[in-house]
Amino acid sequence: MSETELTSGDFTEAAEPFRLFATWLEDATKSEPNDPNGVALATVDADGMPDVRMVLLKGFDESGFVFYTNFESAKGREILGSMKAAMCFHWKSLRRQVRVRGPVEIVSDAEADAYYATRPRGSRIGAWASKQSRPLESRFALEKAVAEYTASYPLG
Ligand SMILES: Cc1cc2nc3c(=O)[nH]c(=O)nc-3n(C[C@H](O)[C@H](O)[C@H](O)COP(=O)(O)O)c2cc1C
Repeated sequence: MSETELTSGDFTEAAEPFRLFATWLEDATKSEPNDPNGVALATVDADGMPDVRMVLLKGFDESGFVFYTNFESAKGREILGSMKAAMCFHWKSLRRQVRVRGPVEIVSDAEADAYYATRPRGSRIGAWASKQSRPLESRFALEKAVAEYTASYPLG
């Protein structure tokens, strides 16, 4: 049997979808060339027009799937408008997909702060400097913002 076929164990675990998801994500971590935690995140705007883009899954448990983004991005605004979203993982190396949809909750400040503290300095500066989803005034403006945040952001 190829590893992409479902086994009877999968059906037992299907009664516990989060456990099956954990197993599949772990399998993907071994077989995907990069970003096994990459997931398409779909949202809908105020006119009902759908939108989709990739994000990185940063945690999950029975209460939900966690990703981080900028509230001022298109996805941030769309989620704040509808408080609903859908996700689709696709692990090509395993020929498996997992689909998730439902209401969105904002993680606690403590959880977000704990995640932020794990990010490398360059990523924190990029997050501050990037006006996610909005047109770049110019490449120079972005580089200037990065330089300014780099200068003002304490090392550590
Ligand atoms: C593999 C991959 C992972 C990404 N992860 C994130 C993420 O975790 N959070 C995020 O805000 N954007 C992430 N992005 C960028 C988004 O796909 C998107 O380009 C950006 O957030 C603006 O999206 P929006 O205009 O729909 O809000 C990722 C892009 C790729 C290709």
